Amino acid sequence: MSQIPVSFIAGTGLSVPEKILTNKDIEKIVDTTDEWIVSRTGIKTRHIVSEGVLTSDISKEASEIALKEAGVSPEELDFIILGTVSGDVSFPATACYVQEKIGAVNAAAFDITAACSGFLYSLIIGNGLFAAGNVENILVIGAETLSRITNWKDRNTCVLFGDGAGAAVLKKSKGDKGILATFMKSDGRLSQLLMNPGSINGQVVLDSKGEKMLPFINMQGREVFKNAIRSMEEAISNVLEQGNVSIEDIDLLVPHQANVRILDLLAERTGIGKGKIFINVDRYGNTSSASVPIALHEARKEGLLPEGSLCVMAAFGGGFTWGAVLVRF
Ligand code: COA
Repeated sequence: MSQIPVSFIAGTGLSVPEKILTNKDIEKIVDTTDEWIVSRTGIKTRHIVSEGVLTSDISKEASEIALKEAGVSPEELDFIILGTVSGDVSFPATACYVQEKIGAVNAAAFDITAACSGFLYSLIIGNGLFAAGNVENILVIGAETLSRITNWKDRNTCVLFGDGAGAAVLKKSKGDKGILATFMKSDGRLSQLLMNPGSINGQVVLDSKGEKMLPFINMQGREVFKNAIRSMEEAISNVLEQGNVSIEDIDLLVPHQANVRILDLLAERTGIGKGKIFINVDRYGNTSSASVPIALHEARKEGLLPEGSLCVMAAFGGGFTWGAVLVRF
């Protein structure tokens, strides 16, 4: 492997709201069944924020866990980069609210909009900032309160999503561990397949049939499904090639958690095998940009990513956006 990493993941953290919504609970809201949801998605429960709890609140909790593990104080942070599509307000950036809440007075803070790829986009941008020099510590967050932008009358989407936050602290690399290869790409021609037109003030957005879209998550599930597998497969093979490693060398694949059927197919197509793919979508649903850092934190806590292990993270989301990161722990 030829890459010399410029940064490594020194700590991770997660925060999910206490309130759990089961499939049985959702049966009371829309015309669906636990059996349908489990068989089509693998999702059993999701966590939902209580009234008044914002994306910056759960980001704060996840960040403080990650900072503690990394041994980095908030004052030592150079940047806070937060991937989200359900920020506290339209502007300022939710990262600025997190900055205030954790007391990171010396940081520059900004948000990244890349939907479910938001955390990986933020991680890749953060890693790039180390290459530019004069940077010691960066806090990268993926956090969502999707329940606030979910149409609870639409059974096609409301069964899928959940709220949560995950965080990682990047430190300047001193050895051979760290981020070895990165890949990110987007295709705006597919934007209509998965979008929320709600933030466009008063403007009417029409779908492909000319009908007015509601200001919530809108999705054409089947098309998203096909593109998800194709794009994550592309991203994974790209970072493996850059890192000059094969799929057999990977100890754990930590993918975006959208649907267990997507993950089963991804395991099959990449050849990694189901035992090496981390899955927690059954408990959290799709938490968009929070899903990869939540899964990463849980995988680390379960001891699945010991010192020296090789991990690929991969994601796809609205935009379309997709990406992957190869990392040595
Ligand atoms: N409960 C019961 N029936 C439902 C339902 C629900 N929650 N949601 C949809 N259906 C119905 C549909 O109305 C449709 O009925 P019809 O045939 O009478 O029209 C039927 O189930 C099949 O719908 P379809 O969309 O073809 O199902 P599917 O097998 O493609 O599964 C998804 C739907 C959403 C689970 C699947 O397409 C998917 O996971 N897509 C990717 C979603 C994703 O990952 N999004 C996030 C990207 S970051």
